[in-house]
Amino acid sequence: MKGVILAGGKGTRLLPLTKITNKHLLPIHDRPMIFYPLETLRQSGISEILIVTDGKFIAQFKKILNSSLQKKLKIKVLFAIQKKADGIAGALKLAEKFAAGEKIAVILGDNIFEANFREDAKIFRIGAKVFLKKVPDPERFGVAEIRGSQIVRIQEKPRRAKSDLAVVGLYFFDKRVFDIIRKIQPSKRGELEITAVNNFYLQTKSLNFTKIKGFWKDAGTFASLAEATKFIRENSKK
Ligand code: G1P
Repeated sequence: MKGVILAGGKGTRLLPLTKITNKHLLPIHDRPMIFYPLETLRQSGISEILIVTDGKFIAQFKKILNSSLQKKLKIKVLFAIQKKADGIAGALKLAEKFAAGEKIAVILGDNIFEANFREDAKIFRIGAKVFLKKVPDPERFGVAEIRGSQIVRIQEKPRRAKSDLAVVGLYFFDKRVFDIIRKIQPSKRGELEITAVNNFYLQTKSLNFTKIKGFWKDAGTFASLAEATKFIRENSKK
């Protein structure tokens, strides 16, 4: 399985910091944010990784993830430049060549996980898999409505959430994902939503889910960035 880290976007909720740098280069405790999703993929047994980001700060990404670090971590990191911010699925389109027909794990660059997904990655075969976490503020996320052991619908940032289960920013997809992205329409906010992709898999009865254990944060706001920093700091030896 190959890995894709989506590290683009405008980071508007972290302005003015994101005026002078990319969100994923901001610190969480002692390292830039991008290290954490990278480590989540690595701990899940994935070593070939594509980072999709905008071109402006690419030199900084390359400096921090240089070839000697890649050697040390036994990973290979490639980059793809996203020219327009047209949503998560829009950014994922740029990974088609890299994926080259293989299964992919896609992680959002601001998602901080305590768990790794080694076992899930080992058994994943076809379709798509999403990961769910109970949260107090589901309206901020994609929300999964569940009946029995099945997801019946995912709603992107609903005003009134049907459950408290957020769809976290890690997804497993088979090779069909790129054809599906070509079929979906932009949402009201003009973006190709990852939720639309997942709902497409759902319609063809090929979407599975697992509830995740441990700490999880989308560190895209000042409050959640501080919480992620606190968690990492308290759980690291430094
Ligand atoms: C995105 C997705 C949302 C998901 C969230 C997880 O939202 O659109 O479905 O629950 O990431 O971090 P964003 O943070 O880009 O607004």
